[in-house]
Formats: sequence, C-alpha cells, structure tokens
Amino acid sequence: NGRPQISASFSNEMLDESLSGERAPEQQGGSTVSITVVGASGDLAKKKIFPALFALFYEGCLPEHFAVFGYARSKMSDEELRTMISRTLTCRIDKRENCGDKMEHFLQRCFYQSGQYNSEEEFAELDRKLKEKEAGRVPNRLFYLSIPPNIFVDVVRSASRTASSSGGWTRFIVEKPFGRDSESSGELTRSLKKHLAEEQIFRIDHYLGKELVENLSVLRFSNLVFEPLWSRNYIRNVQLIFSEDFGTDGRGGYFDNYGIIRDIMQNHLLQILALFAMETPVSLDAEDIRNEKVKVLRSMRQLKLEDVVVGQYKGHVKGGKSYPGYADDPTVPKGSITPTFAAAALFIDNARWDGVPFLMKAGKALHTRRAEIRVQFRSVPGNLYRRNIGSSDLDQATNELVLRVQPDEAIYLKINNKVPGLGMRLDRSNLNLLYSERYPREIPDAYERLLLDAIAGERRLFIRSDELDAAWAIFTPVLRQLEDKRVAPELYPYGSRGPVGAHYLAANYNVRWG
Ligand code: NDP
Ligand code: BG6
Repeated sequence: NGRPQISASFSNEMLDESLSGERAPEQQGGSTVSITVVGASGDLAKKKIFPALFALFYEGCLPEHFAVFGYARSKMSDEELRTMISRTLTCRIDKRENCGDKMEHFLQRCFYQSGQYNSEEEFAELDRKLKEKEAGRVPNRLFYLSIPPNIFVDVVRSASRTASSSGGWTRFIVEKPFGRDSESSGELTRSLKKHLAEEQIFRIDHYLGKELVENLSVLRFSNLVFEPLWSRNYIRNVQLIFSEDFGTDGRGGYFDNYGIIRDIMQNHLLQILALFAMETPVSLDAEDIRNEKVKVLRSMRQLKLEDVVVGQYKGHVKGGKSYPGYADDPTVPKGSITPTFAAAALFIDNARWDGVPFLMKAGKALHTRRAEIRVQFRSVPGNLYRRNIGSSDLDQATNELVLRVQPDEAIYLKINNKVPGLGMRLDRSNLNLLYSERYPREIPDAYERLLLDAIAGERRLFIRSDELDAAWAIFTPVLRQLEDKRVAPELYPYGSRGPVGAHYLAANYNVRWG
C-alpha cells in the first residue's frame, strides 16, 4: 500500500502521488499541505490532534512544506494558540534528541484564524492566510472537523466555497458522531455530499488507527495457521470488549444524547467486528477492503431488543473515596435513562459465521480499562486428555485467542499444556506476544496514523458512506425500541464489573465472558 512508513520521511513525491485521480501538480516548487483544525480550542484538538501532528513532524513524516492552522470562534493570536498547543506537546518518542528545538520549529508553523463556523467571509480570510503560507506551491488542504456535529455542514459549506484549494486537493476529516440513527446519518451524508465528493470525505473511527486493530488483517491473512480456523467450524464465539474505568467526566452533555451503543458499539466495536469477520479482500486497496467490510455488515442481522442489556453507573463509595454516578453529572438531564453500559449478541447470517454469537460489551465507569477481542474455539472432539484436564469443566479448557488492543498491547493464545513432572496433569498456559517486550519502541497514537493516511490520500482506515449505512441499519431499530419503550438501564456501582444481566445474556448463548 501507499502509506509511508512511520519512520520514513514524507516526501513531496508521496504527497503528489496521493493526488491519484485528482489534479497533478504543475507549479514550480512542489506541493505544500495546510492542515486546518476547525474547533482548535476544543478538547479533542488539544488532547489528540495537535499532539499527533507534532509527533508526525518530530518523526519526519510531514511533508517538507506544511502549515497548521487553528480555526474556532474563540479569539486568540497565533502566539496564544502556540502557548495552548505547547501545553499538551510531549517529547514522548525520544526524550533525548533535540525535542525542544523541534517543538519550537513545529510551533512556528502553527497559526490561528478566529471565525464563525458558518461565515464564508471568515473562511475567505483563512483562505487568504493559507495562500500566504502556500507561497505559490501546489496547495493541498486538509480540514479536520473537530467540532460538534450540528455544525459540520455549516463548516463544510463555508470552507468548500471559500477556502478550497485551487490546483491541489481539499479533504475533510469528519469526527463521529455521524448521526444518531440511519435517518440522521443519511441526512448528514446527503448534506455533506452537496458540497463534497465522497473521495474528499474522511470519516474517522480512531479505533481503526490502533496498532492491534490494524494488525488483525496481518494476523489473519499472512499466517497460515489462523485463517483455516476462522469460521463456524472451529470458533464458538467471538467477544468484543470495551471498558473504561472512568465515567463521562464532563462529557455528559454530549454523551447523554448518544449513549454507549452509539458512542462505542455502532462504530468502534462494529468496525473491529467487520475486519475480523470479512472475507479475504481482492487486494489491500482501500476499496477492496471496504467492499468486504460492507458485505459482512450487510450480512448481519438487525440487533433485537432481547439480545441487548443496558446499564447505567451509579455513585459508589470505595476506600473512603466517593465516585459520582452518571446522573450526578450536572450536564446530564435529571432522570436520564441513557445507557453507559451495554452488552449485545450479534449474528452474521453467512456461510462462514452462521450461528456464531458475536458478543459485544461496552461500558464506562467499570473496574478496569481495556479493549479486547476474544476468540473462543470449540472443544477438541474426543479429547484424549479429558481426564487430565484440571478443570472439571471441559468447556473452560478450550483454546482462546486474545488480542488485547489496549492497554499493554498483546496477542496471546491459551492452550492446554502438560505441567512438567512425572505425572500427567494439564493446565492452561499462554503463548504470549507481549508488545512491550517484543517491540519496546512506543506505539504511535491512532490519530498519528490516521492523519498521515489522510494526508497521503489513503482511505483504507476511513469509513465509506455505504459502510456507515450498513452499520446504522444493524443498530437503528433497537435504539428506537430502547427509547420508545423507555427501557430502564440496570444500575451498577461505579468501578464494578457492570450489570449482572450481561452474564445472563451471554449464558443464553452458552458463553462466558472472558
Ligand atoms: P468540544 O465540545 O470541545 O468542541 C470543540 C470546539 O467547538 C469548542 O472549543 C468550541 O470552540 C466549538 N463549539 C463547542 N460547542 C459549540 C456549539 N454548540 N456551537 C458552535 N461551536 C461550538 O468538542 P471536542 O473537542 O470534545 O470534540 C470534537 C468532535 O470530536 C466532536 O464531534 C466529538 O463528538 C468528537 N470526539 C471527541 C472526542 C474527545 O475525546 N473529546 C473523542 C472522539 C470524538 P469555539 O467556542 O472556540 O468556537
Ligand atoms: C471515543 C468515545 O470515541 O472513544 C469516548 O466518544 C471514549 O467516549 C473514547 O472514551 C475511547 O477512546 P480510547 O482511544 O481512549 O480508547
């Protein structure tokens, strides 16, 4: 694929190649890329986007000529933007080497334009400033919409009319949420497409930029041992687990309008599921991969109400410290029944996966932070060693493959193994690939990978509109039923393992959560 390696320098040729199908550069002096972070004063911009841009610059992955612009309504000078950005930059990659200098160089390439999100005049002013920095080079422009979704269309309309590149490419990275259901998502897509071509829209799901999620295809398609087992013939169930050990932490206002199913399951976990379950793509080309993802999503059954359990965390006192409940968040409306936890059983009605439960579990304010894919294999038929297996439950002694997406990235396979000694006793051991031991260098943040891809025009890790439609089709009916019937979430204490209902749901399908 065309993505530059993280350690390689980003050459102008890469940038020009990435124009694929768009206009080739003619001007002298090569190309330049300007990255405008719309909503620059916000949480995501400060926490993730500016630090990721710096990390790319530090690693020599940004093109030689680039500029970073912040755009938001807040009034700020260039200097104030730089001060704001510098507070969150760290030299995490290599603490020894010229980090301070590089930071200074990076900050000198950051500029700010204040404006309303629907103001063509103010985007025209941004255009004027961008042109100054572009200095006659082929201007490529990337807009990162790090703003609430209700203003996406305003920005796209104004920016596409008055701040599009002439001669280079113009791309927009759009952050989730992409609507609340099939209807609103379709409406958003139609509105964006009034101003942009699909190739210009990069819908981000940052889980696709996580190292272990990207590795899923490598594991499946470049090792002989896994792919032949990857079907209903050998796999009993697949579990996709997301848990956080903190609550909505001031994002309750946003969260209450969406809930955990929309916040995590319909996008992050479903994307992992699609990569896990898709057929072998024709090639690594973005369209080939996305075609396969769409196929598998379209083979999925709509989620049923009886296959969902919802929960909400309540306040809890532990070790003398009190932890607030979701409903205690002042930004959450009184009496909210928005789920902060959900478990669901999903099915793919195709030849490969017929009858295999794909169980998802996602929750906030649980006892631990982790994201994992767990694959439980069937029992060994006529197992010769059934008497030697310590556990009385043979079901517990099946193989299990775990991909730990975070924290402490790892891939391990649980196997039955002879306990050394003169007797014949078996126990469960792990074949373990612990990333921190095997690959001690720090893993880049998902946003770094995704920004780099968007600059290079690599769409593989971004969501195509038909994928989005297929994803919403699975969840929209149940979301509507949960809301129409006002299904009360099961309350669980902050810091606990979540509602017990999740265990009953899994038990319906003979599954135990890993
Ligand atoms: P913020 O709420 O911090 O908003 C970003 C900026 O948008 C603000 O600084 C503000 O800038 C402007 N803004 C906020 N509310 C409004 C409004 N009602 N009308 C007009 N402008 C407004 O958002 P985040 O940075 O948290 O998130 C940005 C996007 O990324 C959202 O779509 C969010 O859902 C998504 N996201 C966020 C994550 C996170 O961890 N924060 C994680 C994943 C996705 P100003 O007032 O200066 O114009
Ligand atoms: C975001 C959700 O998409 O992902 C947040 O909106 C969640 O609620 C976050 O906390 C988790 O991302 P990560 O990368 O920290 O696991």
